[in-house]
Amino acid sequence: MKKVLVIHGPNLNMVGIREPGIYGNIGIDAINEKIMSHAHELELECTIFQSNFEGAIIDKLQQSRTEFDGVVLNAGAYTHYSIAIRDAIAAIDIPVIEVHLSNVHKREEFRHTSVIAPVCVGGIYGFGKNSYLLALNALSTL
Ligand code: DQA
Repeated sequence: MKKVLVIHGPNLNMVGIREPGIYGNIGIDAINEKIMSHAHELELECTIFQSNFEGAIIDKLQQSRTEFDGVVLNAGAYTHYSIAIRDAIAAIDIPVIEVHLSNVHKREEFRHTSVIAPVCVGGIYGFGKNSYLLALNALSTL
């Protein structure tokens, strides 16, 4: 069975409360339940991790090299400027899929840049919680 890691970055623990017009009313616990049940359907063994700290996300990415077959990463705002997270993804030889709840390209210009996109296998954005589920589908085919 493939082992996959889902990482929620900064402020994603606030989804459901935070800017509901953009991120929806569903909280992170309900999103995580959907992720876990979809992973189960796809016969993936799934672990979920959330942190607001760049270093903790980097530590987790480094560990995932030997512990997981792939990663679904919503790096939150770090997506747009964290070269350290980009380097951590480049350092591991397992597929990482970039996801976002919102369509970042419809939003402020600073969200149009992803410094992690060039080191990810691909990206899915704009489908709310389904962005994570679509990313699991993609990982299961790799
Ligand atoms: C986000 C988009 C980012 O620009 C933002 O900073 C987030 C959430 C998303 O899932 O839509 O925190 O990653």
